Amino acid sequence: MSLTLDLPGYLRITCAPAVAPYLASELAALGFKAPTPTERDTWVDVEGTLIDAMRLNLQLRTAYAVLFLLAEFRCNDLEQLFERTNGIPWEEFVPADGYLTVASRVNNPSVTNWNIANLRVKDAIVDRIAEKAGRRPDSGPDRSGVVVQVYWVGTVCRLYLNASGNKLADRGYRRMPHLAPMQETLAAAVLMAAEYTGEQPLVNPMCGSGTLAIEAALMASGRAPGLLRTDFGLSHTLLHNEEIWQSVRREVSRRPAVVGSALRTTPAPIIATDIDPRAISAAKQNAKTAGVDNMIQFAVCDFTETKIPETPGIVLLNPEYGERLGEIATLEKTYDRIGDFFKKQCAGWTGYVFTGNKDLAKKIRLTASRRIPFWNAKIECRLLKYEMYQGTRRKPKDEA
Ligand SMILES: C[S@@+](CC[C@H](N)C(=O)[O-])C[C@H]1O[C@@H](n2cnc3c(N)ncnc32)[C@H](O)[C@@H]1O
Repeated sequence: MSLTLDLPGYLRITCAPAVAPYLASELAALGFKAPTPTERDTWVDVEGTLIDAMRLNLQLRTAYAVLFLLAEFRCNDLEQLFERTNGIPWEEFVPADGYLTVASRVNNPSVTNWNIANLRVKDAIVDRIAEKAGRRPDSGPDRSGVVVQVYWVGTVCRLYLNASGNKLADRGYRRMPHLAPMQETLAAAVLMAAEYTGEQPLVNPMCGSGTLAIEAALMASGRAPGLLRTDFGLSHTLLHNEEIWQSVRREVSRRPAVVGSALRTTPAPIIATDIDPRAISAAKQNAKTAGVDNMIQFAVCDFTETKIPETPGIVLLNPEYGERLGEIATLEKTYDRIGDFFKKQCAGWTGYVFTGNKDLAKKIRLTASRRIPFWNAKIECRLLKYEMYQGTRRKPKDEA
């Protein structure tokens, strides 16, 4: 059967470690039957077509990539990998004059060098296209054309067409990243973990390049995060149909996206501050590119001077945690001041701190009611939740 945009099949939607539960809830809200993932999963599988993949490319906030299953077969070694891959009619959807990237995840005893599986799959595809179309596509690592993804675990091999191409975290608004920015998809998952709905005020001191505030504004306005981007993997295949693509974009831009569907006339405030004027200038520019600058109040100030609105909401900080920036001794003082700030200025609010350093987190000296696991690249992190009641007590310094 030929591959078409509306052929029913299976989608694998990938994400960062610990993010799968948030991704599954996005998919469920969009009407997909998503199995309950564990925190260790780095993907969620659902049924769907390539047209669904187009929609999901635009709508999902926490996903890395949307993959469409092309083939699944038993595979014991590289020779079988080549033969089975070569039997797929690639010439029907990979342009002979196009550009191809193959990426793989392999766990099979016959493969000691992961790159060899990529090479065999790439050779099987380009040899087939050369035989059928008289010309072989160029290939390389940069995901700017057709991207094929291999998952070969034990004796089961699955080949996917990556409908996203470059990872969906690259929304296209962060042209001015400040130092140590948080990935956009991680920021969206952190906001979902903080139960941000777009209806409560959000204060984000230490906003850096503004990722959390911008993702919050996109959620609060029900805007699909992928609409800023025009380039997706699927658009480089022969299956691309401009009319269908534009109609999917129109449909998605009309429909409120998954989180924050409450489109209000007077939105709850989003306040983003940072001590570094260059960070605020980058954040403002990024928010403008994202089309949400009118929804965020920016200010340059120490985090303790951030104006806290009267109606309580969420106050969310992502301080440096000593892996990439900042000196530990200075940071210890900063974390200690965060505890003071929460206690003295944020009574009635829910405080969150996203950090990858548990020793520094102890300096906050407040009892976290939740410690939600995340990963920032290779760093294990926690989103710490603090309920700030009138009279919340800090632990004495020696107990912390
Ligand atoms: C890890 S970065 C935040 C990154 C941000 N989440 C993003 O996606 O770009 C920490 C930020 O805290 C800011 N910062 C450090 N000390 C501060 C202070 N005392 N008051 C306010 N901001 C501070 C830094 O300028 C930096 O931009």
